[in-house]
Amino acid sequence: MTLVQSTQPKLQVNGATKVYNTNSGDLLAIDRCSIDIAPGEIVSVVGPSGSGKTTLLWAISGLHGLTSGEILLDGKPVTGPRREIGMVFQDANLLPWRTIDANINFPFEIKGEKPDRDWITTLMHRVGLEGFGARMPRELSGGMQQRVALVRALSFKPSVLLMDEPFGALDSFTREEMNHLVEEIYLDTRTTIVLITHSIEEAIFLSDRVVVMSARPGRIAHVHDVPFARPRSMEIMTTREVFDLTNTIKREIVGDQQSKAAVRRRQAVPVSAPL
Ligand SMILES: Nc1ncnc2c1ncn2[C@@H]1O[C@H](COP(=O)(O)OP(=O)(O)O)[C@@H](O)[C@H]1O
Ligand SMILES: [Mg+2]
Repeated sequence: MTLVQSTQPKLQVNGATKVYNTNSGDLLAIDRCSIDIAPGEIVSVVGPSGSGKTTLLWAISGLHGLTSGEILLDGKPVTGPRREIGMVFQDANLLPWRTIDANINFPFEIKGEKPDRDWITTLMHRVGLEGFGARMPRELSGGMQQRVALVRALSFKPSVLLMDEPFGALDSFTREEMNHLVEEIYLDTRTTIVLITHSIEEAIFLSDRVVVMSARPGRIAHVHDVPFARPRSMEIMTTREVFDLTNTIKREIVGDQQSKAAVRRRQAVPVSAPL
């Protein structure tokens, strides 16, 4: 029994398939994606724009359903939003007329629950925002606002944190700082993390595994292990191993995009057209 519990994946994505019904017809966004994610694992998802990364993440979060396939959290199907799952998006989505504290409290107000103030204070300290609770969002930089979004997501003590290009709008130095911060928080909490990013470097620095999605329809094309001990230092990023892995992933993404674009171009040329 103990053995079964300790080997059960935290998340199971089984044959996840999503068709969007659009005005111009059905669009197969993701196609039979399957992956098991272990408790305390960090998995990044990279891939061309439009390859269904966000679709996959929203399905994992329970925010929208799949056409076929299923998502299991601790072995149970995810059929709607779950409090064990926290989310961070590219935009911090803070309400501009509320203070930082009031923004963090907002989801608790909606649920009619009392926030754990001690835990939130610990988190604010952890992300370097101690003393900023009474400020308004406009007084904070983009990086600071994303830290608030992280605190808000972690305030419910989720066991899974889903992030969709959370640092995509930040400059590269702030992004690096945020990567270290995520690692520190991870080492404290061992939260299972699924991170979508367009930065291969960020994916490698943070993850145990990097998933590469194919251009639409999104399929899991490759999965790479990143076997570095934590805490990691930026020095690993200059190693031969990381250099090679970065190039491999880049080739996988660009190569796939180019070959699918070529197929589309060929299909777009009428058979009778002069060459
Ligand atoms: N709500 C929606 N309705 C219709 N099509 C959608 C919707 N959301 C996404 N798509 C389409 O599904 C595909 C995958 O989108 P998305 O999951 O956002 O990809 P990514 O995050 O990798 O850029 C794209 O072609 C996109 O235009
Ligand atoms: Mg997206």
